[in-house]
Amino acid sequence: MDTLSRARMLSTLARATGSVVSVNTAAYLHARRAGQSSGSVRGLHTTSFDPLDSAIVADPYPAYARLLEGAAVHYNPRRQLWIVCRYDEVKAAARADDALSTAQGVTRMRFSLPIILTTDRPEHTRMRRQALPGFTRGALDKWRPRIADLAAELVGALRSRDSADAVAALAVPMPVRLIAHILGVPAEDEADFRRWSNQVVNVADLGIRPEQLKRSAEVIAGIWALHGYFRTQLQSGRLLEGDNVLSTLNATAEAGTITADELFWFAVFLLVAGNETTTNLLSTMLLSLAENPDQYELLRERPELIPSAVEEQLRFCSPIQGFYRTAINEWTTGGVTIPAGARVLLLFGAANRDPRHYPEPHRFNAARNPSDHLGFGSGIHLCLGAALARMEAQAVLRELVNTVKHIDWTATQPGAPTARYAASPSSQSASCQADRYTAPPGLGQARAPGTTLPLQLPGLPHSAFGQDREPPRDRAV
Ligand code: HEM
Repeated sequence: MDTLSRARMLSTLARATGSVVSVNTAAYLHARRAGQSSGSVRGLHTTSFDPLDSAIVADPYPAYARLLEGAAVHYNPRRQLWIVCRYDEVKAAARADDALSTAQGVTRMRFSLPIILTTDRPEHTRMRRQALPGFTRGALDKWRPRIADLAAELVGALRSRDSADAVAALAVPMPVRLIAHILGVPAEDEADFRRWSNQVVNVADLGIRPEQLKRSAEVIAGIWALHGYFRTQLQSGRLLEGDNVLSTLNATAEAGTITADELFWFAVFLLVAGNETTTNLLSTMLLSLAENPDQYELLRERPELIPSAVEEQLRFCSPIQGFYRTAINEWTTGGVTIPAGARVLLLFGAANRDPRHYPEPHRFNAARNPSDHLGFGSGIHLCLGAALARMEAQAVLRELVNTVKHIDWTATQPGAPTARYAASPSSQSASCQADRYTAPPGLGQARAPGTTLPLQLPGLPHSAFGQDREPPRDRAV
């Protein structure tokens, strides 16, 4: 193993963790000053809406509705946070990269890592140009058969069991197995790769608070193991031989401008960007279909609506509810000027339920086809893996409507949601338990035992909104 390269990787991680402390402290003081001066901002609307409040994380939609009834921009003095919620303004904010930077991270905790999402122009343009060839239509077409096989295998396995956890058996393995494939990881290494990937997905939560230390140690162990793996594979040339994202990236990079370290961080970022997001999309899609049997029936009758239904799912329950920016210049929107230095939350999940843009926004309407939703962001950081995620969800939905009569959720005991699939043409069914997960945003509050319960998902809401275990002081919006 190349010690120099490992030292570089560790120093990158140490810088990221160190910057969490120094940048956040400095930012806190700066934001405080900006917050104090916010009192003089004309037309400013303060709010107690707190994206870190666990009740809001569990079900943000009532709070979004109240935010959306009010101003275009709100300010939470306690969090020193500027909140943009309406469709037009969120879209404009995502596109205002000259004023709103991602360089201090896009989650609550500020950190910087050498990855495309947390890089501003002009460096971002170079990275994006290098990454794009790995995600062309041609590349996607090559992955289509693998996606269809995975969907058939995993949905088939669900149907064949008496009892299964739909998240663990389908929504979690589908994206990570696909990413292993597109990175060129051979089948025999897939199990190790999945284990390390699962450790790495909390990378956005690096920190030094006691509850973060264990997760941080796991993240670092996962990155360490992946680094060892990728270095060996890249050095031996094995990962660069095949036709995969890394080999394409390497081949199209301008001579000498991409290093093995950059390739490594790109691979790690794809793992983080494409895993939990797609898991959330697949899981919440099952939930929407279970809770809206008429829409599932419609899709069985008219499978040509499958792409539309996936767009509607991304709008209806956006896998990333919101990402942060830091104002590097003053930025004016909705009649409010956000000061330089401010931390700004772009609420994609709220924008996608803005009644100014989508009539009846709280209704899941499989035929709506809202292809302009902000579930994948907008502007220079628009999701690079959007087409891939769409293909995955469409393949799963196609497999479901072809083989499963209806999807339904019941509670066998309090806190243990169960999914029951009625397969067709046989009467085979499987109950799928998912009680080991924490609630995601937008899935409703826990309901009385014996009634239909939502499937609960892994911790994206925390990584999407940012971690903060401090108990909220106020709850109302
Ligand atoms: C349902 C699944 C997914 C959702 C909802 C999602 C959502 C997003 C969002 C909202 C952004 C923009 C963030 C911002 O503007 O701050 C983003 C960026 C990104 N996503 Fe995804 N994503 C998904 C799946 C994937 C997959 C499967 C991959 C690749 C394997 C991927 C790779 C990326 C990359 C590379 C960026 C950064 C692009 C840039 O900075 O230029 N995503 N994603």
